[in-house]
Amino acid sequence: MITSSDNISKLQKKEWTISKELERLVSKADWQMIQKVEEFARENLDSPSHGYDHTQRVYSLAYHIGKWEGADLLVLLTATLLHDIGRVMEEGIGADHAETAAYFGKDFLKTINFPREKLKPVFLAIKQHRARRGAEPQSVEAKVLSDADNLDALGAIGLGRTFTYGGRLNRDVRGTVKFIQENMLGRIDRMYTQTARRLADRRIAYMIQFLHRVEDEVHGLK
Ligand SMILES: [Fe+2]
Ligand SMILES: [Fe+2]
Repeated sequence: MITSSDNISKLQKKEWTISKELERLVSKADWQMIQKVEEFARENLDSPSHGYDHTQRVYSLAYHIGKWEGADLLVLLTATLLHDIGRVMEEGIGADHAETAAYFGKDFLKTINFPREKLKPVFLAIKQHRARRGAEPQSVEAKVLSDADNLDALGAIGLGRTFTYGGRLNRDVRGTVKFIQENMLGRIDRMYTQTARRLADRRIAYMIQFLHRVEDEVHGLK
């Protein structure tokens, strides 16, 4: 529990950073490639709930899960950085963002001489990250990306994102809480990997705790 003013001011100054551990794990060529993809993703992501900050978190999750699940990190992280670049188009003209991102991403990767044999696995992982709309993820990289993406809808971050998104739809607090109760708590069933299921379990437990707290506050009990 944060009580002292020292702790509060530390939290207020905290910056979010992306893990640099990866630089030591992949080859120099792969690392340079990932940096180019990251720059492109940053320029092409613009949405309050599915923007660059969402992609950064999915990247960190994909990296940690991917290490445990034995994924090809270049394929996985490239697909992760590009997975939502079709969002702006979807919000504008309704085109499925997974589909758009897969084609748009592939075209970009060709311009930076991305390894040819890895283009298809990246393309498929992006295309399959939205299982509700398309084919189920097949490769380990596609499964890890889907899991990491779904995990970002859970836990403290998931709650924050749902309220952000709810505001855009003109939902009030009550409406957003109802949405969380009805739609978010069963998401562990959508996880493909064991590592993600463990993380999802903890994140859902936190959300349940939050909902109990909301209930108490609504009744003026806390
Ligand atoms: Fe997506
Ligand atoms: Fe996403």
